[in-house]
Amino acid sequence: MEHTLDFAGHRALVTGATGGIGAAIVDILTARGAPVVACDARKAEATSSWFVLLNVRDQASVIQAFDRAENLLGGVCDILVNAAGLYPSDPLIEMTEEAWDRVLDTNLKGAFLTSQQFCRRLVAADRAGCIVNITSGSADRARVGAAHYSASKAALEMLTRSFALEFASQRIRVNAVSPGYVQVGSAVNPLSTAYVEAITRTIPLARAGTPRDVARVVAFLCEDASDWITGASYRVDGGSHAGTLALPLSRD
Ligand SMILES: NC(=O)c1ccc[n+]([C@@H]2O[C@H](COP(=O)([O-])OP(=O)(O)OC[C@H]3O[C@@H](n4cnc5c(N)ncnc54)[C@H](O)[C@@H]3O)[C@@H](O)[C@H]2O)c1
Repeated sequence: MEHTLDFAGHRALVTGATGGIGAAIVDILTARGAPVVACDARKAEATSSWFVLLNVRDQASVIQAFDRAENLLGGVCDILVNAAGLYPSDPLIEMTEEAWDRVLDTNLKGAFLTSQQFCRRLVAADRAGCIVNITSGSADRARVGAAHYSASKAALEMLTRSFALEFASQRIRVNAVSPGYVQVGSAVNPLSTAYVEAITRTIPLARAGTPRDVARVVAFLCEDASDWITGASYRVDGGSHAGTLALPLSRD
């Protein structure tokens, strides 16, 4: 399936592209024929695409990255995937203002800045396109230490719908993919072994997700086959949101 050329003639920009999920998205879009500009605040060791340094929290950096992408790819991008994100663990009683701002500015404001830049350029070029935002199951399931993260992802779900509505008439589709726990071994977002073991036990399909599990659904949402889908959010979580396995039968 990954060897079709669904995305030939398109141009893609992916944020968070050095990370686990972002890199898998770059790989699948590239394998299916899209030239991709991979953007991240950290340079990748090896990449199958063009790489541009980007801080999504900074509007000047966002404008520069889109300028660079247009030069490298020879025209405006018509696929944007927002995968840059931070998920630190900060209990509310000790959460600093700086920690709050960093998470909200990266996960929420960052996606606003990149999506606005993307849409402005597409509208000026009178072209159709699509955005996929990587949100999280934490958008509607609170967890200790993740108040800033959950708030940012809940707001990103709504930002997805707002962009979808405002740009529908310009044929720009905007959707979200909401992963459950995906094993990435991130240096930026490290997770303790105890947390990983505990969360994995709660997944109905009995395994952690892989970046590829998420990337496949992102690719589907970028295909023409999904051209009547906008403002939607797809859960890719091994069934985590369906309910809890923690409870026994309620009969004796
Ligand atoms: N791994 C999971 O279990 C999981 C679950 C649900 C949602 N997500 C979401 O998936 C996305 C990717 O996460 P991941 O698990 O691959 O983590 P990751 O740490 O491997 O990747 C995140 C990437 O974002 C980049 N980044 C951070 N701040 C940035 C900034 N200001 N500008 C540009 N890039 C920046 C980092 O350098 C990193 O490469 C995130 O939005 C995360 O919230 C992950």
